[in-house]
Amino acid sequence: MGRRDVFVWNFGVFLLCFLLGFAQSAVKTYNFDVQVKNISRLCHAKPMVTVNGMYPGPTIYVREGDRLRINVTNHAQYNMSIHWHGLKQYRNGWADGPAYITQCPVQTGQSYTYDMNVTEQRGTLWWHAHIFWLRATVYGAIVIMPKQGIPYPFPQPNSEFNLILGEWWNDDVEEIVKQGRKLGLPPKMSDAHTINGKPGPLFPCWEKHTYAIEFEQGKTYLLRIINAALNDELFFAISGHSMTVVEIDAVYTKPFSTESILITPGQTTNVLVRANQAAGRYFMAARAFMDAGLPIDNRTAIAILQYKGIPNTVIPSLPQLPDLNDSSTALTYNAKLKSLNSPRFPCNVPLKVDRHLFYTIGLGVNPCPTCQNGTQLTASLNNITFVMPQVGLLQAHFLSLKGVFTADFPDRPPMPFNYTGATFTNLQTTLSKLPRVSKIAFNSTVELVLQDTNLLSVESHPFHLHGYNFFVVGTGIGNFDPKKDPAKYNLVDPPERNTVGVPTGGWTAIRFRADNPGVWFMHCHLELHTGWGLKMAFVVEDGPDKDHAVRSPPKDLPQC
Ligand code: C2O
Repeated sequence: MGRRDVFVWNFGVFLLCFLLGFAQSAVKTYNFDVQVKNISRLCHAKPMVTVNGMYPGPTIYVREGDRLRINVTNHAQYNMSIHWHGLKQYRNGWADGPAYITQCPVQTGQSYTYDMNVTEQRGTLWWHAHIFWLRATVYGAIVIMPKQGIPYPFPQPNSEFNLILGEWWNDDVEEIVKQGRKLGLPPKMSDAHTINGKPGPLFPCWEKHTYAIEFEQGKTYLLRIINAALNDELFFAISGHSMTVVEIDAVYTKPFSTESILITPGQTTNVLVRANQAAGRYFMAARAFMDAGLPIDNRTAIAILQYKGIPNTVIPSLPQLPDLNDSSTALTYNAKLKSLNSPRFPCNVPLKVDRHLFYTIGLGVNPCPTCQNGTQLTASLNNITFVMPQVGLLQAHFLSLKGVFTADFPDRPPMPFNYTGATFTNLQTTLSKLPRVSKIAFNSTVELVLQDTNLLSVESHPFHLHGYNFFVVGTGIGNFDPKKDPAKYNLVDPPERNTVGVPTGGWTAIRFRADNPGVWFMHCHLELHTGWGLKMAFVVEDGPDKDHAVRSPPKDLPQC
């Protein structure tokens, strides 16, 4: 080879690497300007916090393997942070987002770039503000496409739509929350549910605020459904059309057909829908599921599915939604969810457990001298109401700062009792000075049984774990029986997800391998309960070398 050939050859290799590298992983950059904008629904306008003035906020499109950089600049009056719900953030809690857990909030006028890698995940996730109740208006979809050339493990849809379910309040949400706190009671419930920010035809000013999609006869559509509501689990159905569930929380499932889905706050569900009905107009509707008899916003959000060429004058019919308190539909639906567990997408559920945890979920009442009634409603795990730190826990852990948290969160409740049967007179919970966290050895396998209790009231609680997916190996009604129930676990193809609904007066067992070092928040995804302290954090220790340890913090990490 002459000199010139060597050069051409080298250049060729360089070009090839460049192109391959480009195809395999790109850097996707987004700018999020957090700003207050006047938005109107139900004929009520109000200034509210948005990203880029949009409600819902912008959709993030990435491909598995991409690096994602999101530049957040905060122009709102609240110090705030954003969480990328369901992204695993391997060794990189710095980009996870829950305020005071993995970072201090981004202060007004400041910026922070969330810098993350999207690895070994594909499907639908979402992002939302993770401080106060700002996620009422600050949220959006994350769409992770499979790697180039890797098809879906289900029939390729012709097209797709995002459907983000949410809640709308006519008044300023932070003000409402403040009122509730003063009273020690739940704040006023929402005035409407929404689909892509729009409540639909059952509400005033609906002409301007009804979301619609168009189907072409014979085609197949992928609907990416996200529950961004603050406090309500929702049923969703489409009139005249059944849905095939193919993915939950960005994990493929064994496909099954259903007339309605159940989705808790925090969860996502991808369904295929075939445009195989008489060309017409059909309603899609979302309404709450509440089987504990507690007050709830029971209003139905509606969007329109319209076949191409059908005039707007055709009046659609409502789908058959399960009743508000239909526990049996809820339980049967959840029982159908199974991991795909194919050779390409295996279900790696841990079969052996190193660490057994048992947490009771309780509501409660604590004295509150500053509250109107002298008491306030509260919530707890193992009777502990989580207190928020003043600085980020991850930073405290990384720098070994003393006096920020204690690693003594108990593995079980202070004493066993008849969790779901008894009624209780003492509803007080334990408040410690510092937040209490649970330390987990790197790469150990954890089983956590979440047990609902009748403390104040049984209720269904959607639990979300940051930094991980987990496997839902078992669930049941009543008290968990450590002798009998594990024998009934699904250790073959349990659903893998990041948020699970613990049934009303029942329990759910999850398993995960603690291979992601850092500080990871776990909490009920009902904002009401998170605010009341139904939360805790795991500190997963570093692995044996620096490639298995928490990364160094980015230079622009916000300071408290
Ligand atoms: Cu989607 Cu910690 O939340």
